[in-house]
Amino acid sequence: MSGLLAGKRLLVTGVITDASIAFSVAKIAQEQGATVVLTGFGRLSLVERIAKRLPSPAPVIELDVTDASQLASLQDKVREHVDGLDGVVHSIGFAPQSCLGGGFLDAPWEDVATALQVSTYSYKSLAAACLPLMQSGGSIVGLTFDATKAWPVYDWMGVAKAGLESASRYLALHLGKQGIRSNLVSAGPLRTMAAKSIPGFEQFEDAWSERAPLGWDLQDTSAAGKAVCALLSDWFPATTGEVVHVDGGYHALGA
Ligand SMILES: NC(=O)c1ccc[n+]([C@@H]2O[C@H](COP(=O)([O-])OP(=O)(O)OC[C@H]3O[C@@H](n4cnc5c(N)ncnc54)[C@H](O)[C@@H]3O)[C@@H](O)[C@H]2O)c1
Repeated sequence: MSGLLAGKRLLVTGVITDASIAFSVAKIAQEQGATVVLTGFGRLSLVERIAKRLPSPAPVIELDVTDASQLASLQDKVREHVDGLDGVVHSIGFAPQSCLGGGFLDAPWEDVATALQVSTYSYKSLAAACLPLMQSGGSIVGLTFDATKAWPVYDWMGVAKAGLESASRYLALHLGKQGIRSNLVSAGPLRTMAAKSIPGFEQFEDAWSERAPLGWDLQDTSAAGKAVCALLSDWFPATTGEVVHVDGGYHALGA
């Protein structure tokens, strides 16, 4: 099989619908020659149904990134399908409603803690769970939404993403000696299930549609998917701790 990811064994988290960024990653990765194993959270039968829409049906392993026992057994479950991993994709985010939509000053710590555990700490948890499978080095890639700025309505999810961006740099620091890279793709707004749960998300949609220098398609997850696949490939061998913007150029603009 030829392609950018020929022979690569990848674990892709975060597929819930075919609009998920992770679905695009898995599809493009398979088209580029990778073997893909998915993880699914909660509605497993739904994820299994979506997985059948990929070019090659992919196995689905149950994984709640806050569940220590599921993280501990992940490596054995992955080994039922592949003998190791060359890449891992973290495409996971969640925040309770109180953390989004303008309630920054009122969100209780319990809700903020959930947002940080699922959206930030899990990047480290997933990497650690997969480490025994990455004996020959590899690439870990996550998804962020530009956390260098405070956005209206994004609130504690923005704080979680700032933490994620930092956690990725620390993983780069701690895993570099093992030949493992950690990078993030900073995507512009995309109409996924996670995005639809953010009250006021249409503000981002309007801003990007009007201002992104390259234009921006709110439904097209393929640009983010391609960038993730590029970072999983051998074509960024000396890049780690990086955030690659896939946002139509929006981040480069002034106010
Ligand atoms: N959609 C956007 O506008 C946008 C922009 C930039 C970055 N992102 C990021 O992209 C990533 C993927 O989100 P998406 O937009 O494709 O939405 P999505 O709803 O398709 O995917 C989010 C995924 O997170 C999973 N998840 C939630 N809690 C989990 C848990 N405890 N354990 C394991 N998985 C869990 C869900 O099952 C789902 O598959 C997220 O990190 C998101 O913040 C999204």
